[in-house]
Amino acid sequence: MYILVAGGAGFIGSNFVHYLLKNTEHSVITLDALTYAGSKENLANVLDHASHEFIQGDILDQELVTDVITRADAVVNFAAQTHVDRSIEKSTPFVNTNIKGTQVLLNAAANVGVDRFLQISTDEVYGQIKQGRFTEDDCLSPRNPYAATKAGADLLAQSYYTTHDIPIVITRTCNNYGPRQHIEKLIPKFITRAAEGKHLPLYGNGLNIREWIYVKDNCRAIYAVLEHGTVGEVYNIGTDDRFTNLEVTRRILDEMESSKNLITFIEDRAGHDQRYALETSKIESLGWKPQWTFDDGLQDTIEYYI
Ligand SMILES: NC(=O)c1ccc[n+]([C@@H]2O[C@H](COP(=O)([O-])OP(=O)(O)OC[C@H]3O[C@@H](n4cnc5c(N)ncnc54)[C@H](O)[C@@H]3O)[C@@H](O)[C@H]2O)c1
Repeated sequence: MYILVAGGAGFIGSNFVHYLLKNTEHSVITLDALTYAGSKENLANVLDHASHEFIQGDILDQELVTDVITRADAVVNFAAQTHVDRSIEKSTPFVNTNIKGTQVLLNAAANVGVDRFLQISTDEVYGQIKQGRFTEDDCLSPRNPYAATKAGADLLAQSYYTTHDIPIVITRTCNNYGPRQHIEKLIPKFITRAAEGKHLPLYGNGLNIREWIYVKDNCRAIYAVLEHGTVGEVYNIGTDDRFTNLEVTRRILDEMESSKNLITFIEDRAGHDQRYALETSKIESLGWKPQWTFDDGLQDTIEYYI
């Protein structure tokens, strides 16, 4: 099978390309615009792999996308603008790539035909949850521009399943961490800053709660959904590993034997969601469960960045 991985030079996408080429017989076409968040270095060991083709291009380019999808059996769409803070400053690139770009991919898939279209989404589309866990049937209630554009893409994808009969599947995953993540994101930012003895700026009181998954576990889950997920369905991917941002920061500092005095509390992010939590029995029914503990994954990630 030929799998088009859109956004395959970014953090999760590149880990997924590595996963496919190492663990499956599929051929991979990576399409990535190489924005500030994407890098060929993320694909360094697999750029010349016999079963891999890298194309630098934008998912907003309808002609290019149609041409590439013609050669693919399945599409996995990771391509997105992903940093919440940037979306609060300027939402236009988020609307363009996350919504319009997804629309271009869906139109091409509708015209050409594919066996499967996997849209990669996030727990942030549900908004915050003070207690309990979101199921796949809960309402979408995004609270920042990034999450709103991801929710828009989810709804568009679901509408193409209903109206164009495209075999859509959607995954909604909690916060990922691991190798190849851009250092603007919390865990790599704090590891690299702590290594340089710089202060670690924590939003608000640091008590916002996030659920964390090691990226390699997410890649296994995405592949399970690609292979065995039911068309038209949404799958939450999570771990039950939930910590405050302050706790995550303390664990990084403990692991790196650095001083807690590096922690600095700064003005809170606008509209900062308090807590995310996912109910995951549906993905577990496909035979998947996480293999990495948070501490093991964090150790691996620290080693990578150091
Ligand atoms: N990182 C997380 O914790 C997390 C959690 C849940 C869901 N997700 C979702 O997973 C996907 C991947 O996230 P990530 O953290 O790897 O993101 P990332 O920012 O590291 O990578 C995004 C990739 O998309 C590429 N890209 C951006 N705009 C493009 C365009 N117009 N055309 C082609 N390529 C383009 C970038 O160059 C980059 O390589 C996103 O859809 C994101 O919403 C991420």
